[in-house]
Amino acid sequence: MEELKIAIIGGGSSYTPEIIEGFIKRRYELPVKEIHLVDVEDGMYKLEIVGALAQRMVEKAGVDIDVILTTDRRSAIKGADFVTTQFRVGGLAARARDEKIPLKYDVLGQETTGPGGFSKAMRTIPVIMDICKDIEELAPNAWLINFTNPAGLITEVVEKHTKVKVIGLCNVPVGMVKMVADMLEVDSEKVSVDFVGLNHLVWGQKLFVDGKDVTKWVLDKLSDGAALSMKNIPDLKWDPVFLESLGMLPCPYHRYFYMTDQMVKDQKKAVEEGRGTRAEQVQQVERELFQIYKNPELQEKPKQLEKRGGAYYSEAAVSLISAIYNDKKQLHVVNIRNNGTLIGLPQDTVIEVTCLIDKTGAHPIQVGTLSPKIYGLIQGVKAYEELAVEAGVKGDYGLALQCLAIHPLVPSATVAKQLLEDILVENREYLPQFQRTIEGLI
Ligand code: G6P
Repeated sequence: MEELKIAIIGGGSSYTPEIIEGFIKRRYELPVKEIHLVDVEDGMYKLEIVGALAQRMVEKAGVDIDVILTTDRRSAIKGADFVTTQFRVGGLAARARDEKIPLKYDVLGQETTGPGGFSKAMRTIPVIMDICKDIEELAPNAWLINFTNPAGLITEVVEKHTKVKVIGLCNVPVGMVKMVADMLEVDSEKVSVDFVGLNHLVWGQKLFVDGKDVTKWVLDKLSDGAALSMKNIPDLKWDPVFLESLGMLPCPYHRYFYMTDQMVKDQKKAVEEGRGTRAEQVQQVERELFQIYKNPELQEKPKQLEKRGGAYYSEAAVSLISAIYNDKKQLHVVNIRNNGTLIGLPQDTVIEVTCLIDKTGAHPIQVGTLSPKIYGLIQGVKAYEELAVEAGVKGDYGLALQCLAIHPLVPSATVAKQLLEDILVENREYLPQFQRTIEGLI
């Protein structure tokens, strides 16, 4: 049997026990021999703690997997079969700034949606481009499974500007299927959802259980207050009349677009009352998690990890890897090149959609034309993403300004300019592509 090498970039993340658990659970179908956990020098402290836990987990499970901790990204990537990316440039401190800068202008402050997502993308683009250069040179046949946020936009950078084979992945669709299954009290295997949209902007157009259309039933449940959210998003309730007329299932992140005023108010209140932004709350959760991870008796993923938003992350990632490796021809919801799947969007942009997965990759299921209820929002956000990709790759101030100015959550070009200048200055140490512009601003 073949032996697989996996490189996890951002291996010091507190989420790592999730993905390790996934590889342990699927050891019968996925012959993983080496897992390289890669992080930067600054992340070494976390990598050592989480890496030691990963080693104990593997040992306890009695599986023959070597877990290697390293700051040498090139040696980790060399000859890898799968590279996964879960890194966060600038860490949670940079995320907290992404959340706070927009709030100054009464604009939504979120790590992936709106100007916060733009800021994160600008920091991430130079790094993902470097990683892809290494993959092109040292592991040209590897699959890159990208989790790094904003996942759809970053996947589009790779798709448009490198030769790397990439699939973008998010836990939101898997999480939504599980939540619907819980509402219906059925096994999630029985639920199928016709997903379409962009990352963190995905709708379930139709929902089925054992082939029976349950869309209306699920929307009625949501209208009655059933929960469909994630740990990182406040569970503000949906208006029943709005849901009924929408006729499809919104994802938890849609609250940022459909309930913008309430969400901004909620975020400002949390800061004023000293509860902090989500990044500040997560910093606290992380401190607790790393204390727990340090315990040499701990040999499995602790329950406290459930306080993070990334539930089902391991299931999504490892089952996708297994579907590729084992040529399963299974359906997964992933971020992939449009290629005519969704009429009204450019061919070369990345969408989030149900795909058939086999050894050759992800093959999107044709969607066709969308209802005008959702295509305007998708097109608007996609145009923003297309401009952000080019702005971030080229370090082009004008494109960056245009992209923020057309974002549906930014009220005017004036605010877009103020946001952009704050973002560039505050992130100056992470934006080599904008250095000359930044020098002119400070
Ligand atoms: C969800 C999203 C991820 C995001 C995470 C944040 O899982 O799909 O893209 O990274 O939430 O969770 P956190 O606990 O860091 O707020």
